[in-house]
Amino acid sequence: MAPALLILLGAAAILRADGTPDDVSLLPPVNFTIKVTGLAQVLLSWKPNPDQEGRGVQLGYHLRVHTPQDDDFELKYTGRRYEAALHRGFSASVRTILWERRPSPASRWVSAELSALPGSPGTSAVNLTCATNTAAGGHPDSRPYRVSLRCAWRAGEEAPADTQYFLYYRYGSRTEACREYGQDALKRNVACWFPATSIDGKGQDALAVRVSGSSPRAAIRPYDRLFALHEIDQVNPPGNVTAEMQGTRLSVRWEKPVSAFPGHCWDYEVKIYSRRRDYVQVENTTANKFNTTVSDTSRYCVVVRAAVSPTCRQQGLWSAWSQPVGTGQDEQKPWTEWLLIPLTASLCAAFVCSLSRRTGHVCTKLFPPVPGPKSDIGDLVATVNYEKGGSGETESEVISYVDEEPEVLEDLVF
Ligand SMILES: *[C@@H]1O[C@H](CO)[C@@H](O)[C@H](O)[C@H]1NC(C)=O
Ligand SMILES: *[C@@H]1O[C@H](CO)[C@@H](O)[C@H](O)[C@H]1NC(C)=O
Repeated sequence: MAPALLILLGAAAILRADGTPDDVSLLPPVNFTIKVTGLAQVLLSWKPNPDQEGRGVQLGYHLRVHTPQDDDFELKYTGRRYEAALHRGFSASVRTILWERRPSPASRWVSAELSALPGSPGTSAVNLTCATNTAAGGHPDSRPYRVSLRCAWRAGEEAPADTQYFLYYRYGSRTEACREYGQDALKRNVACWFPATSIDGKGQDALAVRVSGSSPRAAIRPYDRLFALHEIDQVNPPGNVTAEMQGTRLSVRWEKPVSAFPGHCWDYEVKIYSRRRDYVQVENTTANKFNTTVSDTSRYCVVVRAAVSPTCRQQGLWSAWSQPVGTGQDEQKPWTEWLLIPLTASLCAAFVCSLSRRTGHVCTKLFPPVPGPKSDIGDLVATVNYEKGGSGETESEVISYVDEEPEVLEDLVF
């Protein structure tokens, strides 16, 4: 009996000693406001309730942003910046909590909201996509790399023919308006090109983009979108790829892509195709070279692509494949060798394409600008395909690789 009583007394003493009186009634914060501080950026701020009894407890705040999914934060401070698309409006709620107690009792919520940006339904730009790319910087005294940005969209279904769209981007604290537009058949801006931006080539911040618009006949509703840089960065392929055969040893070397990311930040994929159909080797490496022993003398084609490794940035996209390079001898048809020398790169690409069935579309990018008369190359490619036999389903795809296919964005007139 006595020990049980002691334990009960002890428990009561501990409850009192943890310093959070049960009778603190928490009052909600006051003067909660949402202020737009930039493109797709707001400052949420509030004040402690002046009637809140402190009594030595530390107050905190539970902030819930409705984006429209809930995004929750527990904060000691009375403000927070937040990035979100604002065209649909924005709302958030905050309540007082006890900082040192989890789970904490909480006050009632107070809420604030921004209304949707004005404009008629269906007039917004739709299908906005953007991509960044890094190039070596121009001047030695400027940044060593510059990041370009391309965006494209379509006019909203309800946008009048005389609508004009304008694009802005914000990265960090800097906002810029587009100056080079591409237009659709109705001369409405539907693409934008920034040859240089303030985007950091290794940046982790979100890129905010807004397409606003105007028309004498309707109010055009703006459209915002936040992009994660790793998802839209079109990484350059590795440079100076070389392949060399010594006996049966095939060595491939390359340089890291043009990028602000240093040499240790890269994953590579190497693909080796043999002129004989049965040989395709795919290897992943983080080094700048790859050596392998091949089983027979043949002509080999090699392509390499790159992606920023997850040690340096969140997993992103693979680059395009490098231009194919060829090496090795084809013993069986030595007399064709000299004839094909000027066309080696093209022929190499043709092999790569004819062998890469599932990724057939990749070959459009692979194919270098075709030197010499097109029809000759077309014949060669066709010949290569007829030899393939038995897999007729990809033939039409392969033959069409000869035509240069412009990038979607380049399609548009700038
Ligand atoms: C809340 O805002 C009102 C009106 O602007 C102001 O008078 C008041 O002092 C503010 N309260 C606090 C706690 O800052
Ligand atoms: C374009 O946007 C519309 C409306 O937002 C959507 O329904 C459609 O799937 C999009 N099309 C493409 C190709 O993304």
